Amino acid sequence: MRQDKKLVIGLFGFGVVGEGIYEVLKKTPSLQAAVKKICIRDGSKHRNAPAALFTTDAGDILNDPAINVVVELISDAEAAYAIVCRALQSRKAVVSANKKMIAEHLQELLRLQAAHGVPLLYEAAVCGSIPVLRNLEEYYDNDLLDGFCGIVNGSTNFILSRMYEDRMDYRSALLQAQSLGFAEADPRLDVEGIDAVNKLAIVLLHGYGIIAPPEHLLHIGISRLHAADAALAAEKGQQVKLTAQARKLSGGAVAAFVLPQFVGSDSQLFQVRNEYNGVVLQTAFADKQFLYGKGAGRFPTASAVLSDLSALRYDYRYEYRKLHGSEGNVLTQDFYLRVYVSFEWDSAVDRTDFEWVEAFHCQGDRQYLIGVIHFERLLQSRWLHRKEVSLVVCPDGFVEDVAARKLRRRSLELAGSPYVDRVGVAIDGYVVEEEP
Ligand SMILES: NC(=O)c1ccc[n+]([C@@H]2O[C@H](COP(=O)([O-])OP(=O)(O)OC[C@H]3O[C@@H](n4cnc5c(N)ncnc54)[C@H](OP(=O)(O)O)[C@@H]3O)[C@@H](O)[C@H]2O)c1
Repeated sequence: MRQDKKLVIGLFGFGVVGEGIYEVLKKTPSLQAAVKKICIRDGSKHRNAPAALFTTDAGDILNDPAINVVVELISDAEAAYAIVCRALQSRKAVVSANKKMIAEHLQELLRLQAAHGVPLLYEAAVCGSIPVLRNLEEYYDNDLLDGFCGIVNGSTNFILSRMYEDRMDYRSALLQAQSLGFAEADPRLDVEGIDAVNKLAIVLLHGYGIIAPPEHLLHIGISRLHAADAALAAEKGQQVKLTAQARKLSGGAVAAFVLPQFVGSDSQLFQVRNEYNGVVLQTAFADKQFLYGKGAGRFPTASAVLSDLSALRYDYRYEYRKLHGSEGNVLTQDFYLRVYVSFEWDSAVDRTDFEWVEAFHCQGDRQYLIGVIHFERLLQSRWLHRKEVSLVVCPDGFVEDVAARKLRRRSLELAGSPYVDRVGVAIDGYVVEEEP
């Protein structure tokens, strides 16, 4: 698409984001982009736009040769996939914000773009207004990306902010989020970490060139967090945040998951409150960089859609250089994590699953431990998905020198030290509050 060419847009969806981009385009005539038709589901609803623009027949857009860009902003991921496929097959450029649809169909969407020579852009699908994807594609193509750690879901961050700042329990915080419009009536996609893991799958492609179906990535949301977990975090001057993480390990493979995490005041994510999103990127040469902004909402999300439309005017497309390049990154489950686990009964969590336990605490009917566990062992554990068990990754969650530490502990054991656990704890800054 040349820069002097006008964008003739067929818009699918006129909800929060669809109406937002319609309004934004009216205010940016310099873009030379005009909406020719809008396809919605319910033709009887009142709309804040001329009635002649609307249709309920997708063919009015997809079969119109004058329309050269499809902007897909509907709430139904399956219907969205069918629309995007047909649009690409008709050689129309596509802009979408639908993370679920994109994450679940990465492979086929890549194939269609290549086969028909048209771009699909979706900056709004990850962290709304924050320019994450194009940065990963372009900027972090040069400086090696060691790690991505992001708060990528505003609803859960709002709930966690209430639990931390107002000491609310999870249920009350969720109700408040719903009453203020920050969480859906059916909040499962957000609170179970599904929305976040869809975004992580997209980040893995653009950051590391890895195609991973979201269902292959561990994701645990915030619905099992206990008020005691937030209280403990506050006691230690930390907060619990739901983070999507990808980390290039020293061996070269990439670890990735969505899990609640303790975040200390030394992390930029500590300041990310309420419905905001934030991403910390760790790179080989630039060290840490922080992106912050609104991850959702009418105009913040529309601004990312606008940015994609603008990029189409200079023929921008994702080149997926890390996928096609020589890096050859692979996902691994062979790594260790330092985690906090809280639970109701001692029998629920098997201590022998851990390489070592650094802290154990018992108060009333709630207990917790902090220990280092192999990721595969965690995935296979009987207790990980039990509803009375909550798991939070510790601030420095990745432990890469497990073999050396185990050797040191073995030496201490052989030397007869009765304080093996305490010594391990002192090294890592935790306190053994009670040994069973
Ligand atoms: N809201 C946000 O802040 C945000 C942020 C980032 C990404 N997104 C993504 O953006 C997309 C749109 O979200 P939204 O919040 O704008 O949704 P929304 O407010 O629920 O609006 C959805 C729109 O889609 C239309 N629609 C649903 N199924 C359709 C179909 N089969 N054919 C044609 N139109 C159909 C609806 O039509 P009717 O009006 O007739 O019901 C409605 O206009 C989603 O993929 C979402 O994940 C949203």
